Parts: sequence; structure tokens; C-alpha cells
Amino acid sequence: MTFLSATLDRVKPSPTIAVTTKAAELKAAGRDVIGLGAGEPDFDTPQNIKDAGIAAIAAGKTKYTAVDGIQELKQAICDKFKRDNDLIYVPGQVTVGTGGKQVLYNAFMATLNPGDEVIIPAPYWVSYPDMVLLAGGTPVTVEATLDANFKITAAQLEAAITPQTKWFLFNSPSNPTGAGYRWDELKALTDVLLRHPHVWIMTDDMYEHLAYDDFEFCTPAQVEPRLYDRTLTVNGVSKAYAMTGWRIGYAAGPEMLIKAMRKVQSQSTSNPCSISQFAAVEALNGPQDFLAPNNRLFTGRRDLVVDMLNRAPGIVCPKPEGAFYVYPSIAGCIGKTSAAGTLIENDEVFATALLEETGVAVVFGAAFGLSPNFRVSYATSDAALEEACTRIISFCEGLE
Ligand SMILES: Cc1ncc(COP(=O)(O)O)c(C=O)c1O
Repeated sequence: MTFLSATLDRVKPSPTIAVTTKAAELKAAGRDVIGLGAGEPDFDTPQNIKDAGIAAIAAGKTKYTAVDGIQELKQAICDKFKRDNDLIYVPGQVTVGTGGKQVLYNAFMATLNPGDEVIIPAPYWVSYPDMVLLAGGTPVTVEATLDANFKITAAQLEAAITPQTKWFLFNSPSNPTGAGYRWDELKALTDVLLRHPHVWIMTDDMYEHLAYDDFEFCTPAQVEPRLYDRTLTVNGVSKAYAMTGWRIGYAAGPEMLIKAMRKVQSQSTSNPCSISQFAAVEALNGPQDFLAPNNRLFTGRRDLVVDMLNRAPGIVCPKPEGAFYVYPSIAGCIGKTSAAGTLIENDEVFATALLEETGVAVVFGAAFGLSPNFRVSYATSDAALEEACTRIISFCEGLE
């Protein structure tokens, strides 16, 4: 009898965290490393939000709270959904967890039985398939290729649905591609879902506020109100408010599902951090005026990275609508040999050679389910991005 659970054999540790760790190790050893692996904004949590956290501590709001969130935060979340997404929810339809990650996990734990399938467009956020596997379900991936701007079509979705499909997992703007579905593109998908009433929709709207140029964010239950009764809309404060460490995520959906998710949370972690919950109330209710300047900054960085990467021989980098990632293809580099003599067989070898030979840390595409690519997080300074892209260009120029 083995000591560790057999379930663990089905999942892998997060490769994005592995890259960040490897880069940190090289840095500690004195190497000049530029990390483009981390999935978090490089700016600080706004002061008003920090102050709300400090005030919560001073007021002694440091005890257990209701399992899935304080009433003030649930109300702020309802107000947010109405304001930003034209979605009407009451606090009983809202759950708050320790990050969007826990909320997604709770939803799978609360609903998946062996044999249940979850449709996941690839490339996907690394945790989706493994969460489904941990919860006993079966991930079914649908490829969103570079030619299709990393978006799946209605026909692809239709073809992936079986009688066992329980969820369609949707993420726009996307981690890792930054691709965002416009209203008509999303409507094509919701039209398919309308024809399959047994399929529920889990939408991960974490990058909602990180949308550039003329791209307007939209979410499934808003685009197709007839899907409201089978949609779980997940969001959080991590990305837009630079609150990754505070660990607050939330979701709204049918009360029956929310109750089941609460049950999972009540027997695992109980409430998310009380102080963070009060800070999140301020994030959602307070001024939102820092979002626009931040987005202008991100737009400039995106353009810089896209322009420079497209100058690297063998790399093709589309310009995405949102988030803070680009997902260039390295099809033109495969089969070549680096200056230090490494044969670039696949994107994992490319990323390792790039880190070892130039000190630039990116995450290889296989981790996200679509190769040969790599993900760049451009949530770092212009100077670092420029230097990193210069090194990537010279690395590619050195391939033979
Ligand atoms: C697409 C996506 N969803 C969810 C999360 C989880 O965010 P958090 O748990 O910090 O709320 C992330 C974080 O990287 C993400 O990229």
C-alpha cells in the first residue's frame, strides 16, 4: 500500500511557480535574471485599499467570519456585478473564497462525479485541468490556435459536447494568451450552449478590467441572459487591484450551487482572511480611477513586447486584447541549435535554454496545453521588458 493518494499521480505541480522558483535560484546564485514568468501586476495595492485593511485590524475585525464571506463584501460584489456586467444577484447567490483559485476548485469539488467532463479551451490557465482531475472529473481540451487568434469557434464547442459534459470553462481575457472574446464571438458560443441544457458555464473573469484599445469585456450570462440559471461567474480582486497576496476571489450563480460550494469550503478552510475581506470591500466600492492609467501603461508595454518579439527570427507574436500576457509561437525555432549547442526540440527546451543562456525566464507553452509557444508576462518595467526582448532577439538570431 502506498502512503500518498493515487489522485496525486494524476496532477502535476504548477509549472508557472516552478519557473519563478528556478529564476529566483539563478538570481540568488548571482546571475542577471529577468523574470517574465509571474502572473501578477508589478504595481502596489492602492493606498485606500491598504488603509481599509489596516482599519479592519485596528477595529478588531480579526476573528472568524461567515464561512463564505461577510455580508458587506457580498453586497459590494452584487453592486459590482450590476454596475459592470448588468447582472443582478443577491448576496445569497454569492460566495467568497481564498482567491479565485479556491472558488473554482470549490465549484469543481461541489459538482464533479467520475466520468463528468469539463470542456477547457487550450491554451488554458495551468490549474484548470489539474483542478478538474483532483475533483475526479475529466478535462476535455479544445484547441484555440494562433491562426484563430487563440479563440475557439462555435463548431469546435459543439463538437466537444457529449452527454457527459458538465461544464464549459470560459476565460476571457485569457491567461496565457491575453485573447478576449468580443460580444459576437461570445454570442456564437452561448448560442451553442443554449442548445445543450445539461451543460453549465463556468466563466473566469479574472482579467475583466485589463482590456485594451477598443476591446469591451463581456461575460456569458450578460451576453445570453437565458444562460443565467446555469452560469457561475467567477472573478476576484487579485489582478485588477494588485491584491494577489490578499487572497480574495468570488463567484455568483444559482443558490443551490453556491450552497454546495459553501459546504466544501466549510469543511476545508472556512472563511477567507477577515482583514482581506474588508480591504476587498474598499477595492470594489472605492474609486476605480487608477484602472485607466494602469491600462495605458499595460497597453504600452504590450505594444513594446509584441513589436520587439516579432523582430526575433522564428517568432510570431499576435497582439492580444487584454490581461498582461503574450503567447508567441516559436514554430520557426524548432529543430535549430542554440549558440551554446542546445537542439531546440520543443518549447520546454527553448525556455530552459533561454533562461540558462540569456537569463530571461518565460513559461513554456506545453504547460498551457498549446505548443510550440511560450508565455511572457509583461507586468514588469519597460526597461526590463526591453532588455529581455533584446536578449530574446539575440538568442533567436543565434539559432542555426
Ligand atoms: C485565469 C486565472 N484565473 C484565476 C486565477 C487565480 O487568481 P487568484 O486565486 O489570485 O484570485 C489566476 C491567477 O493567476 C488566473 O490567471
